[in-house]
Amino acid sequence: MYKLIIHGGISLNGSVITAGSKNSSLPILFASILANGPITLTNTPHLSDVSTTLRLLMDMGAEFILESDNSLFIDGSKLTNLVAQYNLVKTMRASILALGPMLTKYGKAKISLPGGCAIGSRPVNLHLEALENLGATIKVKNGYIYATAKELIGTKINFKQISVTATENIIMAATLATGITTIHNAAQEPEIVDLVNCLIKMGAIISGAGTSIVIIQGVDELSGVTYSVCPDRIEAGTYLVATAITGGKITIKNVHYQSMHAILEKLLETGADIKINENSIILDMKGRRPRSVNIRTSTYPNFPTDMQAQFTALNAIADGRSTITETIFENRFMHIPELSRMGANLVLKGNTVVCKGVKYLKGMPLIATDLRASASLVLAGLVATGTTTIERVYHLDRGYETIEEKLKLLGAQIERVQD
Ligand code: UD1
Repeated sequence: MYKLIIHGGISLNGSVITAGSKNSSLPILFASILANGPITLTNTPHLSDVSTTLRLLMDMGAEFILESDNSLFIDGSKLTNLVAQYNLVKTMRASILALGPMLTKYGKAKISLPGGCAIGSRPVNLHLEALENLGATIKVKNGYIYATAKELIGTKINFKQISVTATENIIMAATLATGITTIHNAAQEPEIVDLVNCLIKMGAIISGAGTSIVIIQGVDELSGVTYSVCPDRIEAGTYLVATAITGGKITIKNVHYQSMHAILEKLLETGADIKINENSIILDMKGRRPRSVNIRTSTYPNFPTDMQAQFTALNAIADGRSTITETIFENRFMHIPELSRMGANLVLKGNTVVCKGVKYLKGMPLIATDLRASASLVLAGLVATGTTTIERVYHLDRGYETIEEKLKLLGAQIERVQD
């Protein structure tokens, strides 16, 4: 097991290149099941969630080659085993994204139920109900989803709640269905647009991605493709907050600023100077202490839940009182007790954290719990006085490519050591 050791109190300065998006790469990798030939993906991030997806696809009969330049060749066109086993699914809930592609291409799929996770119960009912509407027969037995369909037939799907991966699953299932599927109340996240752009390049007929209504006209087959994954807005946002919290200056390269509106607006409110260029963002805090900001998470284009924990760390040492309300996941506050131990003044009332900013946090041993909570502990460690150690770093490796190397480039004193 690895841990991170951070000597805090240093302003971050320098530049960082954002990796490809995790939440785009995962659905696009599962989309390789739909193709009738290999897919080459460029700008794929080196993350453990990507490795888990590749292992899952390999278990099913896919073949892949990972190149050192972050390009990935994957042939998922001829699966031999239509089963996603619990041992891999339990480590990554996005494994449910195998369901739509397998079912539409092969007429059957068996996938372990993902179960709950640290940030909430996270059911998959929306995925299953929508697939049933398309004509699938679904049974849940002994912890597994058994789905079969002689044929999926396009229809109107009206999601009663907005879900990112359910929208993606149904879009993928509908690409090879018979006729037209119209998804109402679809999620509008940029990662859905990225997936759809890739599917369109593969020959799918889809319109409306990025809006609440997505229309898919089924086709007979999809081809292999070469596609470049869009940059990760959450990784970019995390480095911007890391710089704002430490009063530094950063240039983030390879960013898609158009999808970062809500994050950049909040950073401006903290008092940061921000310049946006075609492919980069410069944030300069000029040594100032950030002002606190009120946050309410919601679906895109509103403030993303995946940035909530990082802004909570910022608010902890910011000037002023703030509230942070989490509306997407019921238990996404695992970072609160750890930040409080460091000296933060945070009070959790229902799904809202009331925060009174303090001037200093104190470094200490911490335990990472889930991906974004772990990121918030790293940010707190960067600004804290003294030394912070963070155990269970594997949570961070799910979503941040070589986080300590990138932070070192910005001047942070951070090391990964083995226990
Ligand atoms: C995706 C992202 C994750 C992000 C989240 C919200 C990926 C791989 N992950 O997760 O990083 O935090 O969107 O932006 O893209 N729900 C149900 N039933 C379902 C599905 C969802 O009740 O069948 C609920 C969830 O419990 C949650 C809400 O809907 O309360 C939204 O979750 P959802 O958008 O599905 O999150 P994910 O797609 O799992």
